[in-house]
Amino acid sequence: MGIQRIESVTYSIDDLDECVRFFDDFGLLLVERTDEHAVLETLTGQTLTLDTAPGDLLPPPVEDGPTLREVVWGVDTAEELDRLVAETARDRPVRLSADGVHHTVDETGFGVGLTLARPRPAPVTPRPANALGNVNRWNAALTEIARVRPLRMCHVALNIRKEGKDEAVAFYTDRLGFRPTDVVEPMGVFMQAPGDDDQHTMLLCHRPDRAGVNHIAYEVPGFDDVIEGGNFMIERGWREARRLGRHTIGSNVFRFLHAPCGGRVEYAADMDRVDDSYETRVHETTPPHHIWALRTNRDQDATSTA
Ligand SMILES: [Fe+2]
Repeated sequence: MGIQRIESVTYSIDDLDECVRFFDDFGLLLVERTDEHAVLETLTGQTLTLDTAPGDLLPPPVEDGPTLREVVWGVDTAEELDRLVAETARDRPVRLSADGVHHTVDETGFGVGLTLARPRPAPVTPRPANALGNVNRWNAALTEIARVRPLRMCHVALNIRKEGKDEAVAFYTDRLGFRPTDVVEPMGVFMQAPGDDDQHTMLLCHRPDRAGVNHIAYEVPGFDDVIEGGNFMIERGWREARRLGRHTIGSNVFRFLHAPCGGRVEYAADMDRVDDSYETRVHETTPPHHIWALRTNRDQDATSTA
C-alpha cells in the first residue's frame, strides 16, 4: 500500500521552553527533554521534535525563523519502504540515520523522511449525543473535558512557490504515491496518502507564493475537544489564529492557533473520509473557505473569548 500516516515531524526553534510549554498545553505528551531538544507525542505515537540545533541530516530551512524542517512519513511494509526509497534516490541523495529513517528533500526544500510506520492504537469513545428520536445518553450529564489529547497528526499544509508548483506536487504524487483529492487551481492541491482515509493528508498551497510551514492539524475526538482545547490554549495565553469553523474542503471542524515553532496548529474533528471511489475534484475557482465560522456581534463584550 505505501505511506500510512505522518510518523514524525521536526521543527528548528529558538526558545525550547516556550515551544515545550505550547505543545504541553496543546495536549501532546512529553517523552524526552534535553537542553537542546524535546520530543513530544500524540496518543497514536507520532512524534514531534523541537530542536534548537538540528543535525546536518536536514536540508537548510526554507524560511527564516523557527519553522518545520522535516516530515517523516510512515510506510506499512519494508518492501514498500525500499521501493519508495529507491524511487526518491533516483535524482537526490537519501541518507539513512541510526533510527531507521531515510532522509531526503522535496522540490521546495522541505525535509522528507521515510520509515516504517509504528502506529499505536488509541481507542476513541465519542461522546454519545442526543437528538429527538436518537437518544444515546440517558441519565448522564456531560462534564468538562479535563485535558484535550490529540489523537494524531492528521494532515500537514505547506506553502510552496507558484513557480514549479506542478513539479512540487508531482514529487508527492508520482514518487510517494499520494493521490490528489481536490485540486483548487488558484490555491493548491489537497492529497491523500495511500494508507489514509482522510480526505487530505497533505496540502501544498501555492497561493502565498513563498515557501514555509502553513500548519499541521491534529485530530481530536469531537467538537467539544476542538472548542475546549482552543479555550484552554487561550486561557494559557496563546494566540488564536482562526476561530472555530467548519471547512468546505474536507468538512473538518477547525480551530487554529499561532505556534511558537513556526506556522500554526489546528485542532480538527470530523473530517470527511474518502476511498478510491472519490474521484479527483478540480476547482477552477477557490471554493468558500468554510461552510460556517463562529460569528459574534458581541466582540466588544469584555467577557468574550472569541
Ligand atoms: Fe488543516
